[in-house]
Amino acid sequence: MLRYTLEKLKNLDRLLICEKEVNPEYELGAVLKYFRNKRPILFNKVKGSRIRVAGGLYGDRDLVYKLLNVTRDNRLFRFMEAIANPKPYKIVSSGPVKENVVTRNIDLPNMFPIPKFQERDSKPFITAGMLVIKDPDTGNFFTSIRRFQVNGGNKLSILIASPKLTNLLLEYEKQKKSLEVAIVLGYDACFLLASQVSSATYGIDKYEIDSALRGEPLELVKCETVDLLVPAYAEIVLEGRVIPGEREVEGPFGELMGYYSNPAPQPIIEITAVLHRNDPIFQVSFPCREEHVTNGLIREVELYNSLRNQVDVVDVNVTEGGGYRFNAFVAINKKNEGDGKAAILAALGSNKDLKQVVVVDSDVDIYDVQDIEWAITTRSQASEDFIIIPKSLGSSLDPSHDLRGVTDKVGIDATKPLRDEKKRFERAIIPGYEKIDIRKYFPNIEI
Ligand SMILES: Cc1cc2nc3c(=O)[nH]c(=O)nc-3n(C[C@H](O)[C@H](O)[C@H](O)COP(=O)(O)O)c2cc1C
Repeated sequence: MLRYTLEKLKNLDRLLICEKEVNPEYELGAVLKYFRNKRPILFNKVKGSRIRVAGGLYGDRDLVYKLLNVTRDNRLFRFMEAIANPKPYKIVSSGPVKENVVTRNIDLPNMFPIPKFQERDSKPFITAGMLVIKDPDTGNFFTSIRRFQVNGGNKLSILIASPKLTNLLLEYEKQKKSLEVAIVLGYDACFLLASQVSSATYGIDKYEIDSALRGEPLELVKCETVDLLVPAYAEIVLEGRVIPGEREVEGPFGELMGYYSNPAPQPIIEITAVLHRNDPIFQVSFPCREEHVTNGLIREVELYNSLRNQVDVVDVNVTEGGGYRFNAFVAINKKNEGDGKAAILAALGSNKDLKQVVVVDSDVDIYDVQDIEWAITTRSQASEDFIIIPKSLGSSLDPSHDLRGVTDKVGIDATKPLRDEKKRFERAIIPGYEKIDIRKYFPNIEI
């Protein structure tokens, strides 16, 4: 889990350790943001607390590949394999997360250095908390990151943007039952990636997906006050219940795309126990685009699957600038004249959040925005190749559309025509360029 990840990051020479004291209000977030939330940082001294904080852990795509032991080329297939072949987890009698069990006088703001990130955020927020619930019908475990507003004492507000979970909560409220939850902090990239698999699409136990991804059973312990299982090697676990029928105003909060949410009443969680390791590390993720990369990696699996039913898709990139949900670049091997447009249809139909897609040939690097610009400006004509679908369903996190969540979608076919007799689209190349070793010419150059 997290400790092992920190070791791995140290060995990769990627972990920054901050020995200067930081204020959890704004300062900690400012340091993370300086590195665009892509540099893992361990803050050893946080004002007002003896507890260390780790952040920026899973915001860099290439580093996340390394932590998951995948490569850009094999990632889609490795993820698909784990989703298609979930493996059993293992229940163990105890684990480090149970080194300390607190069930009385729980005062979260006093126990942990919970940051306030942005100017107009209503309160401190737990932003990396992994919510664990058990499906009452199937017994499957669902994990998902949700944001938790710290209201004081042992009370949190929870924002849930998932129809499945919202419906479950409403059903429990109708029966005046309280839903048992656990919130896990201090996990690794594998646990995070498994959580991002959509429960609405797949309905699989996410602990089992995690076990398949990590190649060994995820070790879990029983909670103390709720009937749930949590990772034995997590840093901190908050156990609790959603109180039926109660609401408290949540927000404003600077969200994924950097805009503030409107305050609105949201359900309350009452924490009944806190489990933590000795000298626990409090995990944060800055509420921003970068740290949603794992969410994007799962969206890429869905996008790729949707495309491969129709075209010869090479690779897909759900990009950071679009919050890992609104924008995608797709590379295809064009075999028929209509492939570019078919790819647009398949892509925009794959997920309601996707708002913009650019389809290119496989000689274009979909991880290089300059190359995409080059393809759009030299291989497309707006009147023929920009396909606009007005007023389709969109994401609530996009402030540019109207209040009903209705948004325009656009697909850009930037593929060249199949027939190119005059060689207008032949890319100029320098023979030998790919193999050049620049250090031969400039021995001291830093690359
Ligand atoms: C860093 C990070 C933060 C996230 N924060 C939230 C959040 O505050 N609220 C939310 O509903 N989803 C959030 N998500 C997305 C959900 O965790 C994701 O949609 C979910 O795990 C998918 O599972 P589901 O289909 O069961 O909802 C976040 C994802 C990441 C990677």
